[in-house]
Amino acid sequence: MVSSGKADAHISCFNRFRRSAIKFTVNHPFRIGVLGSGQGSNFVALAGAVAAGKIPAEIAIVLSDVESAGILAHARARKISAQFIPPGKFRTKLDEDAERAFVAALQAAPVDLVVLAGFMRVLKGEFLRAFEGRIVNIHPSLLPCFPGLQSWRQALDHGVKVAGCTVHFVDAGVDAGPIIGQSAVPVMDDDTPESLHQRIHAAEHELYPKCVAALARREISVVGRRVIWRKAI
Ligand code: GRF
Repeated sequence: MVSSGKADAHISCFNRFRRSAIKFTVNHPFRIGVLGSGQGSNFVALAGAVAAGKIPAEIAIVLSDVESAGILAHARARKISAQFIPPGKFRTKLDEDAERAFVAALQAAPVDLVVLAGFMRVLKGEFLRAFEGRIVNIHPSLLPCFPGLQSWRQALDHGVKVAGCTVHFVDAGVDAGPIIGQSAVPVMDDDTPESLHQRIHAAEHELYPKCVAALARREISVVGRRVIWRKAI
């Protein structure tokens, strides 16, 4: 939480899967930190929506566990602070030092919301505690179907007729937190994993900015596993 003096407006926002609301303290533009490991097309969509005034927020910082990640180049091209933080010795999660470094960078920024945009490591303990209820992710399937890797391939292999993407809060599970928004796309008879992935990716670029805008406007609350929108998506 970003706190800042007694003139603050206390706004009830996300409630991490409980009924007691977490209080956000806000008297500054809503600040977002984006984490990614890859090309950063979702970041580009988010940055475009911020620049167009569709998301009432600032992207304060972009962090990556991959030095050559396109997302860092996209951020720097937009004069947004961008840092590579070495992830440490593990393949699928951050080691303790790396986790501390990510948390410190986000707290120093400081950020109200952590947006995962293709960040390929599972977040654990300290990180989740530091930003409890304030981390969101986008996943390329209609969760709870096909969590994990290459969901578009899993969907095609399973033979579903409708695929899509999901924006959700991040908790200790993998692709498991309360669902904020979903967008469906058809699966065509002649789809390849690549063509389906491309269609899902295009849907992500529409869905993620809408969800982040609603969060920045504090139009979202969480009751149990249900995410309630004050205005329809
Ligand atoms: C997206 O497909 C997203 O669903 C998944 O990682 C991919 C990131 O793509 N979590 P990009 O780096 O935003 O282009």
